[in-house]
Amino acid sequence: MATLEIRDLHVNVKQTDADAEPINILKGVDLTIESGSTHAIMGPNGSGKSTLSYAIAGHPKYEVTQGTITLDGENVLEMSVDERARAGLFLAMQYPVEVPGVSMSNFLRTAATAVRGEAPKLRLWVKETKEAMNELEINPSFGERSVNEGFSGGEKKRHEILQLGLLKPKIAILDETDSGLDVDALRVVSEGVNKYKERENGGVLLITHYTRILRYIKPEFVHVFVGGRIVESGGPELADELEENGYIRFTGAATA
Ligand SMILES: Nc1ncnc2c1ncn2[C@@H]1O[C@H](COP(=O)(O)OP(=O)(O)OP(=O)(O)O)[C@@H](O)[C@H]1O
Ligand SMILES: [Mg+2]
Repeated sequence: MATLEIRDLHVNVKQTDADAEPINILKGVDLTIESGSTHAIMGPNGSGKSTLSYAIAGHPKYEVTQGTITLDGENVLEMSVDERARAGLFLAMQYPVEVPGVSMSNFLRTAATAVRGEAPKLRLWVKETKEAMNELEINPSFGERSVNEGFSGGEKKRHEILQLGLLKPKIAILDETDSGLDVDALRVVSEGVNKYKERENGGVLLITHYTRILRYIKPEFVHVFVGGRIVESGGPELADELEENGYIRFTGAATA
């Protein structure tokens, strides 16, 4: 069992111009994610959802000014980015970065070595990656390509889920992993997430704009994220209400 606990989280984003004042984006986020549970976060553009995921992963541009993040009681905010990954946190980014010159197979093996603490045995590793790529219907030729370079949007998202399956984190944050997927890819990617949940009893935080992925990946909890914090939490029925009525009920409340 693992528990990621976020309490009263306030986060500023540093601006590119070092003299400019940082901008406050997160304004008191409270959220607890346990192994085996799935939470969906839905909210308008610019409300701070990706900021929350970056803050959890430890992106240096995002500065926590107040509040706590703990994983099984350990202070996540004191950990470096790779310590967070080793502790069992994983982020599939909304916009996965391209890493020219580093092949996908090298990248995956290096990441698995770092997270597991030892290099996976080559023969087992080849089998493991082959199976994982098969499950996600990724052509084996991708292994030799540079990470994400020239990948289509959907291919990048599949690659994120491939990492999820191989790195086996305790808690996975998936930031708009469903965006830009065709119907078949959506099914394949969702199955990948569900397999991860079953195999690892993982906890999932799914940031999404669309209820269609929630037909495949069933959340127990849905949170509405507006103005840098969670303004309402409920069950899956809340997602249906959002689909029907949008965020007006909440954006009104946030600016009041
Ligand atoms: N470096 C930056 N400089 C200025 N503003 C920033 C910077 N980084 C983020 N922001 C602002 O922070 C706010 C929250 O951004 P964030 O990416 O977290 O939103 P989001 O909820 O993920 O939106 P979307 O649904 O469009 O992905 C936005 O208004 C964004 O412009
Ligand atoms: Mg975002």
